[in-house]
Amino acid sequence: MKDITIAIDGYAGCGKSSTAKEVAKKLGYLYIDSGAMYRAVSLHFWRHNIDFENESEELIEELENIYIDFNFGRNKPFPVVTLNGVEVEDEIRKPEISAIVSQVSVHKSVRREMVSQQRRLGEAGGVVMDGRDIGTVVFPNAELKVFMTASIDKRAERRLAELQSKGIPASLEDIKANLAQRDHIDSSREVGPLKQAPDAVLIDTTNLNFDEQVDLVCKLAKEKIAKKSNKKTSQSRS
Ligand code: DC
Repeated sequence: MKDITIAIDGYAGCGKSSTAKEVAKKLGYLYIDSGAMYRAVSLHFWRHNIDFENESEELIEELENIYIDFNFGRNKPFPVVTLNGVEVEDEIRKPEISAIVSQVSVHKSVRREMVSQQRRLGEAGGVVMDGRDIGTVVFPNAELKVFMTASIDKRAERRLAELQSKGIPASLEDIKANLAQRDHIDSSREVGPLKQAPDAVLIDTTNLNFDEQVDLVCKLAKEKIAKKSNKKTSQSRS
């Protein structure tokens, strides 16, 4: 089977990460969560009291002290993000980090560094990476690009159900406001804004369930893999 690169971009809360994880598992590919990388940078700045509201010299210099990787341990269902060699999966999901990550990911220097680290992690192919600028900036030559969307009401309902299942109290209105704010910041930033690549397949998950989403992406991936295999075979014949 030929290894391809799969880029999944889209709005917050439309099921990108869960779909990407399951697709990677089914194809035997690596799953890389690029959002976790921006979260890890945010955690580093937060721990070191770096002013992340401005792109200061201090912030730019501090980027040299950040190395992000993923632990692909045998007992782990999915790769776990590490910051300078230490697992930070739980810390990066805390509300104080969620509250600052959009602001941190606006900075040019932060994006330049993350794009370079994302290319290092995905360069061998056989990877599913999800985020906001994967098909447009990180891997513009990815064989399969998917852009996921869903109505804001549906996204908010799903997020609420997810939080409630973890026993975390939340209101639908607050979730909706937070999603709308993140959509706005992600789509309007100057560098690497969230937008659909011209060659991306648009998938609206408003009326799809999880299995349908996964099946759809796997079907598209298998078509691309077959196409790549056929190309290689005909090249080796000629
Ligand atoms: O996917 P997530 O919600 O964990 O992402 C966290 C934040 O990181 C999100 O607010 C936008 C930012 N992000 C980004 O700017 N570019 C990416 N490729 C991935 C995430």
